[in-house]
Amino acid sequence: MSLKRILVTGGLGFIGSETVIALLKEGYEPIVVDDLYNAKEVVLDRIETISGRHPLFYKIDCCDERALEAAFKENELDAVIHFAGYKAVGESVAKPTKYYSNNLGSALTVLRLCNRYRIHSIVFSSSATVYGVPERVPLFETDPLRDATNPYGETKVMIERILRDAAKADPTLNVALLRYFNPIGGHPSGLLGEDPNGIPNNLMPYICQVAVGKLPYLRVYGDDYKTPDGTGVRDYIHVVDLAEGHVATLKKLEKDPGLVVYNLGTGKGTSVLELVRAFEKANGIEIPYKIEARRPGDVDMNYANCDKAFRELGWKARLTIEDACRDAYNFQKKNPNGIE
Ligand code: WQD
Repeated sequence: MSLKRILVTGGLGFIGSETVIALLKEGYEPIVVDDLYNAKEVVLDRIETISGRHPLFYKIDCCDERALEAAFKENELDAVIHFAGYKAVGESVAKPTKYYSNNLGSALTVLRLCNRYRIHSIVFSSSATVYGVPERVPLFETDPLRDATNPYGETKVMIERILRDAAKADPTLNVALLRYFNPIGGHPSGLLGEDPNGIPNNLMPYICQVAVGKLPYLRVYGDDYKTPDGTGVRDYIHVVDLAEGHVATLKKLEKDPGLVVYNLGTGKGTSVLELVRAFEKANGIEIPYKIEARRPGDVDMNYANCDKAFRELGWKARLTIEDACRDAYNFQKKNPNGIE
């Protein structure tokens, strides 16, 4: 079955907007839903500048079923890619109710509307946090889901379970669970990138703000982890590669539907200091840093085995850490105060 019209919830966000670009490039027709809680409507204009197309946009909170139903009613949708959700790990610890009600509420609303409008393909934006504290690395899709170290991660575990049960109960429902590792970088044009509100929680946007002088130095959270240089190791994947993984997944659901789970990473672990060095080399700039105490909840190492995505989707990450460092810095330089 051919999937053409794709509803992309959270489609103006960091990963969502890059995925809209990748969908347009492959001839799909993305319809964008975003409540602008963590994104700006001007991203639509930037999508048009890059792709020449201005996708249909609905400013909607995905928990608002009546509002979201309009997007289903007015478009003959073929599939949904569900990105919409709160994603700040630290905030989720402080405000669990906000995270459970929003993230579970929006996913259940999307699922109910897919049932009502007979949309048989759902791609869910899951996360490596569903593996909890890994017993060993690399992580395989067959590894058990563990207690996530925070409510944000718990919502991803719960939504995966909800979608699995829904697919079990309805054999016509095809579900793809995509477990992202650490997305970094931005569109090579510098028009799209990671644009956090306030002081960045994540490593790469923090490094970028040090690079442009908005922050004095990088705080390295701990150098006594069980890793080669003592700093935390993660699987950093270029957001453009991640976006293309979603297109490859849609093609898989068109050909060979069912319930599928994939790790979307590079298969390689990179430490904090290795990322700093890669950034300095890629951009010819020095990043001052200070070693500080560990951040609660951080794990030593977390990276993926991505052989399954290559075997079944023919997809693998092709851009390098240096490419991502260059694209992230380019975005930061072009948007010193974020997307305005
Ligand atoms: C990476 C490494 C830190 C900031 C989280 C979520 C994950 C996804 C990505 C949403 C760690 C170190 C960081 C800093 C540092 N989010 N660090 N100084 O925690 O691996 O993953 O964000 O989808 O779901 O869990 O990413 O970038 O915060 O940290 O030393 O200022 O960088 O200790 O080792 P994380 P991160």
